Amino acid sequence: VYKDIFQNPLPFPPNKAPKYQYTNASTGATIDYYEIEIKAFEQQVYPGLKPAKLVGYDGISPGPTFRMERGREAVVRFVNHGEKDISVHLHGSYSRAPFDGWAEDTTKVGQYKDYYYPNKQSARTLWYHDHAVHHTAENAYFGQAGFYILHDPAEDALNLPAGDYDIPLALASKQYNKDGTLFDPKDETVSLYGDVIHVNGQPWPYFKVEPRKYRLRFLDTSISRAFQLWFEADGALGKKIPFQMIASDAGLMTKPVQSDLLHISMAERWEMVFDFSAYAGKNVTLRNNRDVQADEDYNSTNQIMRFIVGKDVKSQQGNGNLPSSLRTVPFPPLKSGVDRTFKFERTNGEWKVNGVSFSDVKNRILAKPQRGQVEVWDLVNGGGGWSHPVHIHLIDMQIISRTGGRSVLPYEKEALKDVVLLGTSETVRVIARYAPWDGVYMFHCHNLIHEDHDMMAAFNVSSLGD
Ligand code: C2O
Ligand code: CU
Repeated sequence: VYKDIFQNPLPFPPNKAPKYQYTNASTGATIDYYEIEIKAFEQQVYPGLKPAKLVGYDGISPGPTFRMERGREAVVRFVNHGEKDISVHLHGSYSRAPFDGWAEDTTKVGQYKDYYYPNKQSARTLWYHDHAVHHTAENAYFGQAGFYILHDPAEDALNLPAGDYDIPLALASKQYNKDGTLFDPKDETVSLYGDVIHVNGQPWPYFKVEPRKYRLRFLDTSISRAFQLWFEADGALGKKIPFQMIASDAGLMTKPVQSDLLHISMAERWEMVFDFSAYAGKNVTLRNNRDVQADEDYNSTNQIMRFIVGKDVKSQQGNGNLPSSLRTVPFPPLKSGVDRTFKFERTNGEWKVNGVSFSDVKNRILAKPQRGQVEVWDLVNGGGGWSHPVHIHLIDMQIISRTGGRSVLPYEKEALKDVVLLGTSETVRVIARYAPWDGVYMFHCHNLIHEDHDMMAAFNVSSLGD
């Protein structure tokens, strides 16, 4: 099994091109206008069985990749020709509230909505995915997820591996029915771990690389599976190959940090530079640990994909030494004390944040940060044996401490995040500045089953604060 599992090449979604440009009437700036159609399509996953029926952005999954330049505004029209209500969240963007994919701001089948994206943040890997209330898990799992990569001149000047050497890798773990169709998670109430590991929509792919450095942008789009990834070469099975971590949810870290194990949970983005130069003519296999958090393992969930390393290097672009510092990360000023505490737990068979579920409309605004204020939040896993990757919209946060589980990882210390995994009995302390806009934003567990079952709440940023 181990040798034969990597049968198909790694696919790459096409880059999305704007349809036309127009001018921002109030600023005179150019706005790129894009159109995405959400529609059904079929994908033959298992030869000889029925194709899987999916619904994706432009009828592919992952959706087309947006490659954006900082400072260039965009409007994206999402036309719903799918089968269910949708709402689109650009995860990692400080979008204004009306364009943030609020779960109840749904677009019905046959309708469209135009989303405005400022693209004013520094370079980072974002992703766009469905956020429709109570249907996010199904919609994202059946295909509505894609990369949205923001570039800027400061990052370009570092001369990191780019172009053909800058590789987005969207992980997903899914489950199929016997006939080859995709198992529908709609009746799940706890978790859907999945036994088939996909990268960019393809189960267990291979990818031919040159013996040189690559930038690998990892994103976990799984409903419920977190990963601990490591690389192993032919002839040295079990031996972890080190790599350089360079970026996270909010873009570049302060400096490269060497690691040989990457912890990545749902919705997190982690980027590394991996050097294949010592493995010319060999295979390097991407592996996953077993027993990650409380996740269920299956035969081949400890394998992800294979890199088949060639013998020739076609270009030396970005193949030099990494810079010793990457950027000045805008960490919020540290302060002591805890401003708010949120407990993520299952009580009476329901997923809640501080005892409140998202459907509790009157009580679901759990915090009112003053705009511009720095706040320290304790995110508490209330126990029961589940992990919860907590995502806070609008802001980037720094991890101050972890208690009850592992310590803060060396590469986590150098990064800003918008998702943080609460291990099964962990409390994670985070600090963030609640800015730049006023508005009501969601925060929630990114195990999409938990999210759909209302482990989601909101905070209201305004000049008043409370
Ligand atoms: Cu990635 Cu509220 O979502
Ligand atoms: Cu959860």
